[in-house]
Amino acid sequence: MITWNPTYSVQYVEIDQQHQKLLALLGELETAMLAGRGAEILGNTLDQVLEYTDYHFSTEEGLMSTHRYPNTELHLAQHEEFKAHALDLHQQYAAGQRALAIDTLTFLCEWMLYHILSTDKEFGSFLSAKGVA
Ligand SMILES: [Fe+2]
Repeated sequence: MITWNPTYSVQYVEIDQQHQKLLALLGELETAMLAGRGAEILGNTLDQVLEYTDYHFSTEEGLMSTHRYPNTELHLAQHEEFKAHALDLHQQYAAGQRALAIDTLTFLCEWMLYHILSTDKEFGSFLSAKGVA
């Protein structure tokens, strides 16, 4: 079951809460897939993921700018890569490809977990070292 757990914490409450929301969206897709309704809700999940990641990435990027984070460029490049891929999946779905649920879920989960555990944690450590919480 896809769900947030404390090992994903980046030690910054607002970012953790947003990651929880994103993983909850993926958990809903997983639950629907297990019930044979993955293709049915995929479009809706992608809409929500795209909308929420925009908001979430803005939060992180705003903090990076405020606190002059040195690795901003690399971090932003990962966000852009994610947005491009999620948008592409959304376009495939809109074009009628309904069998994308598993690929989508796999991509979104792998990307999200890898990004949280490496790139976002690194940023979280930077904020903690600066005394920002
Ligand atoms: Fe990030």
